[in-house]
Amino acid sequence: MHSVETFRGLQSEVTTWRRYLHENPELDYRLHNTAKFVADKLASFGINHIEIGIAETGIVALIEGAGGQGPTIGLRADMDALPILEASNKPWSSKTPGKMHGCGHDGHTAMLLGAAKYLANTRNFKGSVALIFQPAEEGALGGQRMVQEGIMDRFGISQVFGMHNAPGMEIGKFGICDGPIMAALDDFDLVVKGRGGHAAKPHDTIDPVVIAAQIIMGLQTLVSRNTNPLEALVISVTKFNAAQAYNIIPDQVELAGTVRTLVPDLRDFAERHILAAAQGIARGFGADIEFKYRRHDPVTFNHTGGTNLAIEAASNLVGPACVDDKITPRMGSEDFAYMLESRPGAFIFLGNGATAGLHHPTYDFNDEALPYGIGYWVSLVETALAR
Ligand code: NI
Repeated sequence: MHSVETFRGLQSEVTTWRRYLHENPELDYRLHNTAKFVADKLASFGINHIEIGIAETGIVALIEGAGGQGPTIGLRADMDALPILEASNKPWSSKTPGKMHGCGHDGHTAMLLGAAKYLANTRNFKGSVALIFQPAEEGALGGQRMVQEGIMDRFGISQVFGMHNAPGMEIGKFGICDGPIMAALDDFDLVVKGRGGHAAKPHDTIDPVVIAAQIIMGLQTLVSRNTNPLEALVISVTKFNAAQAYNIIPDQVELAGTVRTLVPDLRDFAERHILAAAQGIARGFGADIEFKYRRHDPVTFNHTGGTNLAIEAASNLVGPACVDDKITPRMGSEDFAYMLESRPGAFIFLGNGATAGLHHPTYDFNDEALPYGIGYWVSLVETALAR
């Protein structure tokens, strides 16, 4: 067992890497500089099994333990930045206006590199560790693509683990829960088709604006009246596009929105009932609808065995008092969910201190968290693959 002091020796070097990545953000799958930086560092640690170009710019590197045969566990970090104009005013701010590491994936990448350096030097475990560096977490399904391109089978990964920094949680603390930890993400488009005309003669039209307003209110009752109050469902209508004039009733109104839930069955429920409610309301007024529902990230579901292992690993590092093992799930989503659909494991939150929130222009990953994140990965490996 190591305390976090073991990893403070890596902090200044890993901070340099983190700030370099922060200055040079890249988006979605176009991570050519970032991937080269990661691959070069991995090679410099003496790791010789490195596969690049998975899901375009993803990387998997394998470190074999010195303790003989055993399973392979996967540790995943995301590498992509966001299309945000940075306003952190840090000396290491983004050099590219309109792109920034606003979710801390620079920190995630740097921490997994720090763990890679330590593990490649010490190899105090049996079996192997697969280091997974993933592109396109932010809405472009890089995690799903890496799974589809066969990394779990090809590298023999039996369990997989992820970590995300959490602004508002103290440095040195961890948060996790068994079961759903982040929500599924779906969205929908809904066109209300009426009959337009002069705004002064509404009786000659089928006014889709009024009907769309009724539909929006009707959808709220799907949550308040048709869903078990102990099961989380969010339905938010976020777009309402109608005529661009004061005196025109349009032919149609375009609505769009998002659905978040922790219960997989509620995705089916939402798709079916949004359609039925909207159709019923529209037809009652002589209008009709067009409806498209799209499923994106599934629920990020922590498996019990993986969760217990993650709790044990974090507790070995910082003590059980600094590990909250019953956090409330978050309604954001995470494409690591696809890896947890493919293999058992767990996702954990790492305290980022009192920084701005994720995706905010003044957010910055907190370098004080680096030794804790590195220590967690090492502790997880040495706990899961103890000799
Ligand atoms: Ni993120």
